[in-house]
Amino acid sequence: MRFLFLLLSILLAKVDYSLSTCPKPCVCIRRRAFCDQTQIKAMPSNLPKYLTYINLAKNYLRRLNWRRMRRLSNLKHIVADSNKIFTLDNRIFKACPNLTSLSIADNRLAKIMDNDTFSGLGRLRALNMADNRLTDLKAVLRDLENLLYFSAAGNRLTSLSSEEFVGNPNLKGN
Ligand SMILES: *[C@@H]1O[C@H](CO)[C@@H](O)[C@H](O)[C@H]1NC(C)=O
Ligand SMILES: *[C@@H]1O[C@H](CO)[C@@H](O)[C@H](O)[C@H]1NC(C)=O
Repeated sequence: MRFLFLLLSILLAKVDYSLSTCPKPCVCIRRRAFCDQTQIKAMPSNLPKYLTYINLAKNYLRRLNWRRMRRLSNLKHIVADSNKIFTLDNRIFKACPNLTSLSIADNRLAKIMDNDTFSGLGRLRALNMADNRLTDLKAVLRDLENLLYFSAAGNRLTSLSSEEFVGNPNLKGN
């Protein structure tokens, strides 16, 4: 009886993660969703709310959908490298206060639309926007007071002033 109970709890614990099923073609392993290299053109809908990590790299995404992002309030890591993302909605990550790393390298970001695109990301430690088409950073980094790593290498920035980093006391090196 005790054994049965144990078995049942193990089974139920497993079921818990798959209850809200992982949308195809992603593969979910516990709290991580791997949707990379699946040829998707948009963020899948119905991604489980409990996800802490999502990998969307090497697809054909043109934008990160804020409606879908809004559900994912537990996210800590987003990898969206090597897509065709050309814009980020204003306050797109507002629902993800615990985001610690965001990588959108090798996309088509030409300009950050608003100076509060990244607002609310006080816990963000790593931001990689390398190899895009950015000409201007505006004040996007303003609220990122815990940023430790930032890259905008391989863009079209013509000037960077220290004013752009006044809100990032922890930022070191290049
Ligand atoms: C963020 O993390 C804190 C502590 O780790 C937790 O208490 C809080 O619920 C998290 N917020 C969200 C929206 O998941
Ligand atoms: C953000 O942009 C708005 C509109 O362009 C502007 O009015 C505001 O002063 C800006 N805020 C900061 C802190 O740069």
